[in-house]
Amino acid sequence: MAGVLESGMLTMGPKVLEFEAEIARLCEVEHALAVTSGTAALHLAVLAAALEPGDEVLVPAYTFPATANVVALAGLKPVLVDVDPETMNIDPAQIRVGPRTKLLLGVHLFGRPLPLHELPDVPLLEDAAGALGARYRGRACGGLGIAGCLSFHPRKIVTTGEGGAVTTSDDSFADVVRQMRNHGWRSLAPADLPAPGLNYRLSDILCAVGIPQARRLEELLTARTRIAAGYTSRLEHLPVLLPRADEGDVHGWQAYVLQVDDRDRVLAELRGQGIEAQIGTYSLPLLGAYRDQGEFPGARRVFERALALPFHTRLSDGDLDRVAEALDKLVSHH
Ligand SMILES: Cc1ncc(COP(=O)(O)O)c(C=O)c1O
Repeated sequence: MAGVLESGMLTMGPKVLEFEAEIARLCEVEHALAVTSGTAALHLAVLAAALEPGDEVLVPAYTFPATANVVALAGLKPVLVDVDPETMNIDPAQIRVGPRTKLLLGVHLFGRPLPLHELPDVPLLEDAAGALGARYRGRACGGLGIAGCLSFHPRKIVTTGEGGAVTTSDDSFADVVRQMRNHGWRSLAPADLPAPGLNYRLSDILCAVGIPQARRLEELLTARTRIAAGYTSRLEHLPVLLPRADEGDVHGWQAYVLQVDDRDRVLAELRGQGIEAQIGTYSLPLLGAYRDQGEFPGARRVFERALALPFHTRLSDGDLDRVAEALDKLVSHH
């Protein structure tokens, strides 16, 4: 990082290209474009899909709001689809493809790969915000659809503080994203501006922070997998639903989110004991912005039951024991 500061190239310099090459390699695609957040990645990818105003984009009803927000802000219609209350991912059986359905914005929630083989024949844009390192049947998440969107927020496996990337093997899609993250310019600032754009460039300083982590991804994922397995072996006997990936897939373990009855009480008690558990994510139909699309019982159920346990690679066996013992008392004695 000191090297970046001394170089005088603080943005759009060599570290951006180096970081992008690492991310493209990890997602097994031709191009990765570094941007300022996962939300920026989603925004640019949705804009680059070049849909018509009012076209419909399928979005899971249980996800981080950014997934649907970018669709709405791009003048498109986010059509919510209920989730499978077991996997917490979009439920393929609930998908209705209509004449205006143009895109499926699929989320690999918390790093669990989507069941791609069960999805309808609609172009797939991956919200792989928490799925760097995850694999669907041997293939890297972020490289499964027309494009993938990653986040490098601090809760993600590779972090630049804030940051994100669009991954794709489609040259023209990559060109559009590259242009749109830089005001609409192909290179830094030529005379003409072919189309309007934004400034979503990620600085060289932040890319330099990301490069060594990206190079160690396998090691980071192994450490997260070990923590997840540590929780699973300690909690298996409890009446809770534990997270896992489908047979043959690799979980990216962005978070360890289980489901439990009476979650609010369990969460409050854990916090009372100094254990930093959290809710999973949001049920969009329960939010003001997305309230008008009817009932989504799967999303409601998961929203009420999901519990994210403390999750980072410096948790010791003693830490895992402490969380598991607290949960054991809260769940089995009730
Ligand atoms: C599924 C999902 N999509 C999108 C985002 C947005 O990413 P960012 O916070 O980098 O904008 C997140 C962030 O947590 C997320 O979990």
